[in-house]
Amino acid sequence: MNESLKHLNRYSTPAKALVEPAPDDTQLHTILKTALSAPDHGRLHPYRFISIRGKARRRLSEIFGQATLDRDPGVDPAYLAKQKDKPLRSPLIVVVVASLIQSPKIPEIEQMLSAGAAAHNVLLAANALGFGSIWLTGANAYDAYVCSELGLGENERIIGFIYIGTPAIDLPPRPIPEVSRHHLEWK
Ligand SMILES: Cc1cc2nc3c(=O)[nH]c(=O)nc-3n(C[C@H](O)[C@H](O)[C@H](O)COP(=O)(O)O)c2cc1C
Repeated sequence: MNESLKHLNRYSTPAKALVEPAPDDTQLHTILKTALSAPDHGRLHPYRFISIRGKARRRLSEIFGQATLDRDPGVDPAYLAKQKDKPLRSPLIVVVVASLIQSPKIPEIEQMLSAGAAAHNVLLAANALGFGSIWLTGANAYDAYVCSELGLGENERIIGFIYIGTPAIDLPPRPIPEVSRHHLEWK
């Protein structure tokens, strides 16, 4: 691969394999600045980020636990413990929130795509700075109680929990599909 494209060779690291150090405040600022450069019809920037590290992850763990119990009061204790463990796996979580704006010109789908592009830029910037990351959702991302506890408004959706840290493992090369199976030159 061309050297200048190397940082685009992104891959995900399992959340459990992400350890300290996480990006510091300056590095996180760089990551979020990169996210904010995502393509954006109308320059609405229809998204925002919530970063969670250190002890605050325990609060998120409790919220995930409560949300899981609310969804299913008879939940299997092992599944409940797994849900509560999720925020504690990595040192830093960036919650990407789509903040949809009423616009006669720019439909919701385009705003969601901008938010998704911003989330992807978080992954790319984290990787370019030498960190590992992974974009996860699951039932907690779509849970009304989780959204309310994180302070989301009616017009907002969680589109991802991005877990970030230093990879503790070397991953095997990631298989990338054949371009020809995903590309057609239309003539
Ligand atoms: C919107 C979105 C949500 C995702 N949610 C999950 C998830 O909840 N659990 C999961 O295992 N992978 C999820 N993934 C996939 C991982 O982020 C990752 O892309 C996948 O494990 C493949 O690894 P790779 O990025 O190295 O190809 C999600 C990806 C996207 C784009």
